[in-house]
Amino acid sequence: MASITLDHIGKKYTEDVTVIRDLTFDVRDGEFMVFVGPSGCGKSTVLRMIAGLETVTSGKLSIGERVVNDVLPKDRDIAMVFQSYALYPHMTVYDNIAFGLQIRKIPEDEIKKRVQDAADTLGLNAFLDRKPKALSGGQRQRVALGRAIVRSPSVFLFDEPLSNLDAELRVHMRAELAKLQRRLKTTTVYVTHDQVEAMTMGHRICVLRPCGNDAQVSNLTQVGTPMEIYDTPANLFTAGFMGTPKMNLLKAKLSDDGHDVLLYGIRIPVSAAFCDAAALHKGRDVILGIRPEHIGAAHEIDWASETSVTGTIEILEPLGHEVIVHFEVQGQTVSGRLRSHQALPSPGESITLKVRTDAMHLFDPKTEKRLGL
Ligand SMILES: Nc1ncnc2c1ncn2[C@@H]1O[C@H](COP(=O)(O)OP(=O)(O)OP(=O)(O)O)[C@@H](O)[C@H]1O
Ligand SMILES: [Mg+2]
Repeated sequence: MASITLDHIGKKYTEDVTVIRDLTFDVRDGEFMVFVGPSGCGKSTVLRMIAGLETVTSGKLSIGERVVNDVLPKDRDIAMVFQSYALYPHMTVYDNIAFGLQIRKIPEDEIKKRVQDAADTLGLNAFLDRKPKALSGGQRQRVALGRAIVRSPSVFLFDEPLSNLDAELRVHMRAELAKLQRRLKTTTVYVTHDQVEAMTMGHRICVLRPCGNDAQVSNLTQVGTPMEIYDTPANLFTAGFMGTPKMNLLKAKLSDDGHDVLLYGIRIPVSAAFCDAAALHKGRDVILGIRPEHIGAAHEIDWASETSVTGTIEILEPLGHEVIVHFEVQGQTVSGRLRSHQALPSPGESITLKVRTDAMHLFDPKTEKRLGL
């Protein structure tokens, strides 16, 4: 096993196109780290640099104690699983899994044992003699995982390995893969743009964004455990990216004494976590963040500190176990959550909902950072 350390890593594909800028963080030995971010932000590029399939333009990349910037992929002791897992169609499942070991000239007995162990782990015993075309998508995905596992590498790299599977199988494989990693304790980096995968699979999450042309902006917005990222997003990007439905991010102002947030003429007392920071920003514009689960109907909630907000319903989204309501308040759309389907109002009607005031997040609109950071 091994840790992975990125030290001010940068990547330019051409002289004037910077894709990765100033990326610094580490993946601990045995950790399951998820990279999450929008399409095109550079997730695969970082993974491919770790694998050695892309050169590093600047900075230092280490696996364990060893700097690997100039080490060939085959000498990095890494196994990678891609989104398109490209099994060999003419080979059986057994041979697909064994192939990487055969070309490394590992003794046949040893290969047999390792393939058998992997097949046991992945529930592939019944399929070892089949060709890939006689397998379901999920079974093929497991063969691709088997190919990686039998090599017992120091590091697993996964690039959206579940995105070709249907929704149900994805949920199943997500849990299987997380369990497998916890058992093998192999250092793992897993790329996804699905924030549910990020929240449920990783020990920690690294939230990335496109770095753009500003030389001061890095791709890294925040690294933390799933709940740290969810409960205390460090900036507007993470706040808006993690969570479905999205966190409400509303233009507001701090009162002149810094004790209240002024939103639509309502005064909301600043929650304890932000008191010190709010005192430093008194009288200034802020962005108030509130998750939709903290806006709800009076008869469905039991919050110690709350206030009311009234608006006009734009649309209702019934999800079965809950209904997401989007309503307009003074030109801004606000989303809340209703738990029951009883007596739902209609679009165009007025609605008054409660806002849980001790669950607020405050951000500086200029720096886009969480107040107090
Ligand atoms: N070989 C290349 N040459 C030039 N630009 C590239 C190359 N590969 C990727 N890029 C660019 O680098 C950026 C990051 O690409 P990358 O594939 O790392 O994104 P990603 O976060 O994995 O996106 P997705 O979620 O869509 O897979 C993109 O803007 C892409 O167009
Ligand atoms: Mg990608």
